[in-house]
Amino acid sequence: EKQGYRHFMLKEIYEQPGVVRTCLEAYLNSDWQPDDPASRPVDLGLPVALLDNLEHVQILACGTSWHASLVGKYLLEQLAGIPTVVQYASEARYAPTPLTPNTLTIGVTQSGETADTLAALDLERERRRDLAPTLQARLLGITNRPESSLAQLVDTIIDTRAGIEIGVAATKTFVAQLVGFYCLALDLAWQRQALSGDRIARILAGLRHLPGQIELVLECQERYIEDFAHGFNKTQDFIFLGRGINFPIALEGALKLKEISYIHAEGYPAGEMKHGPIALLDERVPVVAIAMPGVVYEKVLSNAQEAKARDARLIGVTVANDSHAAEIFDDLLPVPELEELLSPILTVVPLQLLAYHIAARRGLDVDQPRNLAKSVTVE
Ligand code: F6R
Repeated sequence: EKQGYRHFMLKEIYEQPGVVRTCLEAYLNSDWQPDDPASRPVDLGLPVALLDNLEHVQILACGTSWHASLVGKYLLEQLAGIPTVVQYASEARYAPTPLTPNTLTIGVTQSGETADTLAALDLERERRRDLAPTLQARLLGITNRPESSLAQLVDTIIDTRAGIEIGVAATKTFVAQLVGFYCLALDLAWQRQALSGDRIARILAGLRHLPGQIELVLECQERYIEDFAHGFNKTQDFIFLGRGINFPIALEGALKLKEISYIHAEGYPAGEMKHGPIALLDERVPVVAIAMPGVVYEKVLSNAQEAKARDARLIGVTVANDSHAAEIFDDLLPVPELEELLSPILTVVPLQLLAYHIAARRGLDVDQPRNLAKSVTVE
């Protein structure tokens, strides 16, 4: 079943180009005519009433799905212009956000069975049940499990088509959730005329390049990262930094590493480092910074230099052939050049490989890490 891969996690990392392709094929309209208002760029098949007059979005999730939701918030706010909050489902259950009118509540879960996420969605439905129409619940799920309890609970789902994931550490289901959010944000941006047809067309073209670009990272980087991972046999702490749309990827890189390798790792927004965590740095703590050309590029590089001044070993996830970055970083995990807005789907891949190879090298049970389960069905 592992088809020659040592672990399901590695197999699922390699499935990501296909997963992204399948999801895009399902929802992007290849016949879209930007000049024809009757034709739409993305068709998620969602009921009109679900997205009509939307004023707010609230996203509920846990773990890696919560990280995908943070990218989703960035997209919904920056592309579609809709104020969005993201909450840990386990927190929202006991401190629900005040009711706002015309709010779409989105539950994001790979298993479709996470108890906290289901309970937080159920609470949202119950507390809005008998209110005025503008306050009533509108519930959407994003999942790869259309047969799950989540799908029973919400009005409708976006099926990310990633299929079942076996490795406990989420990989392909995470990138599929991201693709789901790109589709939703672009559909809303188009419906609300928040972006020009040209801009939407450019983003769609960028999305269609992603599967080939992920393949390139896997082909060119996996061997290198496997060797590179040998250098961290004794490492006990890691810091991951990112900003903007790649801040959640720093969180995800840290989570992947800690859950399968048991190394302490923290993800931080790069600009926050000087407000505390910089005190942790010395030559024993490697710092991985995601520095993709775009609005926060120079800022991340200068935050990375602050870490270097404390003797940290600096590892950069950045575009290939970036001479500026090459001067600053001790080691590079390069990815193909692409628009910053689309980069999370690519920048997460070397971080997944790094976590995988560090854990595999330590001889750990990558697919079944201690204390973790694929579905967390208890509170
Ligand atoms: C991380 C991981 C967990 C899950 C979390 C939510 O690799 O697997 O953090 O992301 O338990 O699970 P789902 O998405 O099934 O709700």
